[in-house]
Amino acid sequence: MKKLVIEHVKAPLHRYTFSVRPVREWVEKRCEGRVLNLFAGRTRLAVAEVRNDLDTGMPADYHLDALSLLRSWQDGLFQTVLLDPPYAYRKSMELYKGIICSPFRQLKDEVPKVLEPGGVVITFGYHSVAMGKSRGFEPERIAVFCHGGAIHDTIATVERYNLQRSVTNGVTFSNQEYEYLSS
Ligand SMILES: C[S@@+](CC[C@H](N)C(=O)[O-])C[C@H]1O[C@@H](n2cnc3c(N)ncnc32)[C@H](O)[C@@H]1O
Repeated sequence: MKKLVIEHVKAPLHRYTFSVRPVREWVEKRCEGRVLNLFAGRTRLAVAEVRNDLDTGMPADYHLDALSLLRSWQDGLFQTVLLDPPYAYRKSMELYKGIICSPFRQLKDEVPKVLEPGGVVITFGYHSVAMGKSRGFEPERIAVFCHGGAIHDTIATVERYNLQRSVTNGVTFSNQEYEYLSS
């Protein structure tokens, strides 16, 4: 049985998530191979990343709506896709110049088309399931970033694209064994 690792990491909250060192180091460690960073923001990662952000003020290779980029992408597959969108409509308005995320369900449906089988999707947000089993993904790791005080946590999931396993042997979330790590 595969273990689901749960980590608890203390880190200050910042609107540019990866500008905070423990978060950046955590995500760099989890990235594998060629990385598509779809909501790249301002923090360059020490990984082989292709960067996209709709905001033209951000350092990126592409300034496209994330969904449009996925739908038009023709330049090879990735081993990792990083999703760190604005977590809510209000956040887009308050923190990201009113730039709103593409419809997230549609976006998730497109992700497997640019991901190599066996690759990972790393998603930041308020939820612990992002891609899900129905799209052929298995959760491997969940990190809870604790920002202290009354500030809500940020949750990051690492899910592996394992189409064959999901079709032939759907192991359910609740059957997984858990390992809990705390910083
Ligand atoms: C939570 S921040 C990501 C921060 C980045 N991970 C970092 O640490 O710097 C969300 C980013 O998504 C961008 N964004 C919002 N809507 C977008 C869209 N539809 N397509 C692409 N980028 C978008 C925003 O401009 C913002 O930089």
